[in-house]
Amino acid sequence: MATTEGGRAAAFPAVRMRRLRENPVIREMVRETRLSPRELIQPFFVREGKGEREPVPAMPGVERLSVDQLLVEARRTYEAGVPAVLLFGIPDTKDEAGSQAYARDGVVQRAVRELKSALPELVVITDVCLCEYTSHGHCGLIINGRVANDPTLELLAETAVSHAEAGADIVAPSDMMDGRIAAIRHALDEAGYTETLVLSYAAKFASTFYGPFREAAGSAPAFGDRRSYQMDPADGDQALREVALDVEEGADMIMVKPALPYLDVIRRVRERFLLPLVAYQVSGEYAMIRFAAQAGALDEEAAVLESLTAIRRAGAQMIITYFATDVARRLGA
Ligand code: PBG
Repeated sequence: MATTEGGRAAAFPAVRMRRLRENPVIREMVRETRLSPRELIQPFFVREGKGEREPVPAMPGVERLSVDQLLVEARRTYEAGVPAVLLFGIPDTKDEAGSQAYARDGVVQRAVRELKSALPELVVITDVCLCEYTSHGHCGLIINGRVANDPTLELLAETAVSHAEAGADIVAPSDMMDGRIAAIRHALDEAGYTETLVLSYAAKFASTFYGPFREAAGSAPAFGDRRSYQMDPADGDQALREVALDVEEGADMIMVKPALPYLDVIRRVRERFLLPLVAYQVSGEYAMIRFAAQAGALDEEAAVLESLTAIRRAGAQMIITYFATDVARRLGA
């Protein structure tokens, strides 16, 4: 270390990182990542009935809502400054082919119609998949004991078209069948829905963090698991190939899911692709924070803000999170 004759440290250290942190106003001015309600998306589970609010035990604070109650909650979300919602349907009846997924008067289709007429500016995104609607809980048709890829595409396309017809702004296929983006884009265009966007769950991993969602949607597979279609958590390169294919097939936006355990994937996708990137902070990520906070182990508000900031810093522009409305109310629109 250089010293002056008097022994005083000369210009040490020239760089003091703490100068950027000492004054809270400057600390905030130099902040590179900011959170705003405008990039958040609130998921909702929609069930049949009227006046229904059924709590989901694995996700304290989340309820399955009948359409009339969804309208109440979606208005709160919208008024908090959150621009978009993502809908999952929980039908009363399930069958082998998941026919309620593409029923013209299915629960999601009715929810979309009501939402778009009550809150026309709220962006409505629909999850396009069969697992909430099939008796076996898989995301596709079962033929000879396997999830059959190509025959499933038609049903997914039909589902997407039925959502667009109901007024969905964005359809979001989450099934992970090969070729679904092309099939859905083609079907939407054929039906005249050329302006409906496709948000692809492009890099969707076979994650244990979907556990609470499956309780909410009653969609746990009755046999086997989803590893033959959702991605192996150990593979990052495959995620980039999945995204590249979905981009080629016509996706308008892409998603990485889950979020916090896959920040490296978010970063790699951000660096390689120019499409708007969405990350999904999934049910298990929500449950971890909620239960830890309930047990007094974590400060919930701080944990939520830190995790969302980390997801944004990694490169996601938008975040789907069950905390969206709460966070937006705290941040202010
Ligand atoms: C449907 C779907 C799932 C999720 C989103 N869409 C469940 C799954 O793939 O098993 C999970 C969302 C969450 O955990 O919050 N395929």
